[in-house]
Amino acid sequence: MGRRCVFLIGLLGAVWLLASGHGGQQPPETAAQRCFCQVSGYLDDCTCDVETIDRFNNYRLFPRLQKLLESDYFRYYKVNLKRPCPFWNDISQCGRRDCAVKPCQSDEVPDGIKSASYKYSEVANNLIEECEQAERLGAVDESLSEETQKAVLQWTKHDDSSDSFCEADDIQSPDAEYVDLLLNPERYTGYKGPDAWKIWNVIYEENCFKPQTIKRPLNPLASGQGKNEENTFYSWLEGLCVEKRAFYRLISGLHASINVHLSARYLLQETWLEKKWGHNITEFQQRFDGILTEGEGPRRLKNLYFIYLIELRALSKVVPFFERPDFQLFTGNKVQDAENKMLLLEILHEIKSFPLHFDENSFFAGDKKEANKLKEDFRLHFRNISRIMDCVGCFKCRLWGKLQIQGLGTALKILFSEKLIANMPESGPSYEFHLTRQEIVSLFNAFGRISTSVKELENFRNLLQNIH
Ligand SMILES: *[C@@H]1O[C@H](CO)[C@@H](O)[C@H](O)[C@H]1NC(C)=O
Ligand SMILES: *[C@@H]1O[C@H](CO)[C@@H](O)[C@H](O)[C@H]1NC(C)=O
Repeated sequence: MGRRCVFLIGLLGAVWLLASGHGGQQPPETAAQRCFCQVSGYLDDCTCDVETIDRFNNYRLFPRLQKLLESDYFRYYKVNLKRPCPFWNDISQCGRRDCAVKPCQSDEVPDGIKSASYKYSEVANNLIEECEQAERLGAVDESLSEETQKAVLQWTKHDDSSDSFCEADDIQSPDAEYVDLLLNPERYTGYKGPDAWKIWNVIYEENCFKPQTIKRPLNPLASGQGKNEENTFYSWLEGLCVEKRAFYRLISGLHASINVHLSARYLLQETWLEKKWGHNITEFQQRFDGILTEGEGPRRLKNLYFIYLIELRALSKVVPFFERPDFQLFTGNKVQDAENKMLLLEILHEIKSFPLHFDENSFFAGDKKEANKLKEDFRLHFRNISRIMDCVGCFKCRLWGKLQIQGLGTALKILFSEKLIANMPESGPSYEFHLTRQEIVSLFNAFGRISTSVKELENFRNLLQNIH
């Protein structure tokens, strides 16, 4: 496996050198090629190719998945956004203001009037405006209709989360509340700068199986790295066992996905009448262009495909759990629940039919003792990362961060339980393997985010092609 990997990377590198004009004769590359130069053909650690994934995702999976995620079962996610950050206490001023938790009755006062009221000092004004924007855009809309509130009370919560990759006590807390994910889309929030950096740095630096000997910052966004450092880093990464390498790539893929969303749902224009969200090509290029990011951008995009494939693989492995006759997507509406289950199974069978071409023995399936140790390592790392999410100052980012980490954790729980799932009884209780409602909702919504990002890449490709 390792050798094949190195070979593939070498091959991709050669293709890239040719494509980027180092051969001399080629015409200058276009902006689109610069972002996607390495992101075509085969992916490392898997022999699937990007074009097949794009077709499969964008046309067959994405539309059905969107429909499923709009259903009541999947749109309400219970989350505790009020847990204090356990690691440090200088969370940004913006996030600390109560305003971000409870939206300040934004429908009552037109935005234009609100922002007019503090335009007296230009310096203060800029600061406040930035903060205010981050606060307002980052706020979580917690409104649920009375009907929904009653319904969620009925929902069974069979929670045996001993095996959970993330913090289970989260949802038992009186502070935990249901939020409507459709009312709180993941998009540009204005949350950036040192605070956002710090979160990603801590995740990469302290939670990614990084050995002491590597000095280079793991956060691929950090700049000023020498070429030698970079080579050490990538050879270190290659030397890791496939799962630990996977861990880094999963985090990087998640990071990339979040940034694709922010670039695709950018706040382009704001008047007191309306907000206009859309694609910001400059923002996308700053994060993913091969030259602007010194080669990191295309790697990030490859990791996005990687996390896509890992979550896809988890979904294909967990089919027996959802196929059991006593499994319900329970909301109390029998007809709707049955229809949703049918749609869910349809999606899962579609996924199962996708030829993944992973080496079946390469992930999470080493000898039993080693696998258990690895599983425990992963679990601790994930719990930690989900707690780091409590330090995110922007509440909407915190919501989606927690959800996606839980979803990814659930995917890994599935991959580490392959054998248990395969041996599950066809009916009756399953004591060995179980998923809670929270895990199911986060698993599918997290995959929905990644699937949306893959779809958005196509949109960006087209936009970038048109600017030339
Ligand atoms: C958990 O995160 C904290 C803060 O970043 C770090 O100090 C600690 O080493 C991490 N623990 C594990 C198991 O990753
Ligand atoms: C797009 O993003 C860049 C930052 O990357 C920003 O400077 C620019 O104003 C944005 N464009 C629009 C139309 O908002």
